Amino acid sequence: MSTVLVLNGPNLNLLGTREPAIYGSTTLADVEALCRVEAGKHGLGVDFRQSNHEGVLVDWIHEAGRGVAAGTVKGLVFNAGAYTHTSLALADAVKATGVPLIEVHISNVHAREPVRHHSFLSPVARGIIVGFGPLGYALAIAALATLPAKA
Ligand code: DQA
Repeated sequence: MSTVLVLNGPNLNLLGTREPAIYGSTTLADVEALCRVEAGKHGLGVDFRQSNHEGVLVDWIHEAGRGVAAGTVKGLVFNAGAYTHTSLALADAVKATGVPLIEVHISNVHAREPVRHHSFLSPVARGIIVGFGPLGYALAIAALATLPAKA
């Protein structure tokens, strides 16, 4: 079974209690559950992870790249949190591996502070889903599922 790697960056482990007026009350465990339901509809497995450390996320993108090359990984759904706005290293990792990426943000980053309007990941993403809350993760999995299988 092909797998979708769902990566979550810094502070997303605090979902549910973190700034609920912006991010809601859904926990990261709830997000994982909804990802599993959505992926199941498409015959995909889910590998769901969170880290507060940029280098760990880089390593996981490399791992995803190897999985894509081997045909075991369909692609990457990535909410990089604040690293979205700061990390050339994460964008380089996506570029270097060629892993199909859907960028997700729970909040509408474009309706927030100007510093959140720029994303290093958007130029290397297949698509971007922002502002739909946790549903964005399911939409991203559905989008990845439409990509043609690796030849
Ligand atoms: C976020 C938006 C980012 O600007 C912020 O730093 C986050 C969460 C979102 O899901 O809305 O940590 O990626």
